[in-house]
Amino acid sequence: MSLFAALRLPREILFGNGQRAALGTVAGRLGSRALVCTDARLSGSADFRTMVADLEAHGLAVRVDDSVLPDVPRDSASASADAARDFAPDVVIGIGGGSCLDLAKCTALLLAHGGTPADYYGERKVPGPVLPLVAVPTTAGTGSEVTPVAVLSDPDRLLKVGISSPYLVPQAAICDPELTASCPPLLTAIAGADALTHAVEAFMAKRRDPTPDLAQEHVFVGKSALTDHFALLAIELLTRSLERACRDGGDADARADVMMGALAAGCAFGTAGTAAAHAIQYPIGALTHTAHGLGVATLLPFVMTFNRSSCLPELARIAAAMGLEAPGSTQDALADRVIDRIASLLSAIGIPPSLSALGLAADRRDWTAEQALGIERLIKNNPRPVDLAAMKRLVAAAFEGDRRAVD
Ligand SMILES: NC(=O)c1ccc[n+]([C@@H]2O[C@H](COP(=O)([O-])OP(=O)(O)OC[C@H]3O[C@@H](n4cnc5c(N)ncnc54)[C@H](O)[C@@H]3O)[C@@H](O)[C@H]2O)c1
Ligand SMILES: [Fe+2]
Repeated sequence: MSLFAALRLPREILFGNGQRAALGTVAGRLGSRALVCTDARLSGSADFRTMVADLEAHGLAVRVDDSVLPDVPRDSASASADAARDFAPDVVIGIGGGSCLDLAKCTALLLAHGGTPADYYGERKVPGPVLPLVAVPTTAGTGSEVTPVAVLSDPDRLLKVGISSPYLVPQAAICDPELTASCPPLLTAIAGADALTHAVEAFMAKRRDPTPDLAQEHVFVGKSALTDHFALLAIELLTRSLERACRDGGDADARADVMMGALAAGCAFGTAGTAAAHAIQYPIGALTHTAHGLGVATLLPFVMTFNRSSCLPELARIAAAMGLEAPGSTQDALADRVIDRIASLLSAIGIPPSLSALGLAADRRDWTAEQALGIERLIKNNPRPVDLAAMKRLVAAAFEGDRRAVD
């Protein structure tokens, strides 16, 4: 196997307590008229007002759009772009959870290229650079601050939709763990579990044939040496500190680990891509109206069990990152230990143990399997090939919450 890597990232990533105070300087290098996308809860906070004042102190004209709604309804993205046109921003800043960052990405896209979000659904439909983006996350989870994706909900479609393009990678990401201090335990758990799923799926993703076209024709290209590095860092930090951050939101060290974990997971999956757990969550989310992170994390131990036989060396490396190695352990024993430990961590932070506990109706299992299999970009990234029969068995085992039934 020859060494191969692909990685697309912001030009500048800042991480650390207090780094939000660099926003004015960073944005001032990119433009002079800043549109700030956030939600109504955040726009009233003292931290937010300080960041806006910092932008103004650096000479930027600022317009705040605090209309962001969870899961970014399609028409809200068009409305935000339409409302911003008369202001003519030259830099777009997203401050908030994944929904705020994704809305900022859509707005920067629509302001640069016109049209509607639906014109760009799918991979590599964005024709060129969008307005420069700065992302300031306030949750530790999605990794959207560094990824090439914006996720929307479209009232004409049952499943959520994605716009994936390297042009959507922000120019700068400013990750300040202090901004996550106000996240309640459930939000911390759901966002952090999404990040852990990103890291594990990116590290266990398929290794594709590294032709010169691979990274030019696709947004997500499978695992590679550099995405592996970020994925293992994320797994180490998240398995070490996520439970602690959920139990004690004031634990600054745990908050920093979890935010760094989410960032590193974004750096990994933004190029490697995710796989079956994310594919199955699409129909599950549509049917149960549960949060994205809750669904992918419920599925994670079952998908890991399904992929186990194709990924024994990867699971052994994950075991090392989690400090689970013991002298003389076989790869089989390490794989068991990793999956058990991840399942117990997820259970400890309140992730449901099964799809039935998540609210999936028994008579929708086969439909779920069919829909998941249709999400080709994620399914083709899964390390073990999946056909409909295998997908139905996997969904049925996850529905029952029985990992022994995964074959
Ligand atoms: N673009 C990507 O790469 C990517 C990856 C994964 C998920 N997503 C998408 O991101 C969205 C989920 O993002 P999310 O999990 O960050 O949640 P979110 O942005 O939808 O926010 C959820 C809630 O948390 C609140 N919140 C945010 N920060 C807070 C804070 N510091 N303190 C208290 N409350 C806070 C928000 O106001 C909101 O009410 C989904 O639409 C999902 O599909 C995108
Ligand atoms: Fe995710």
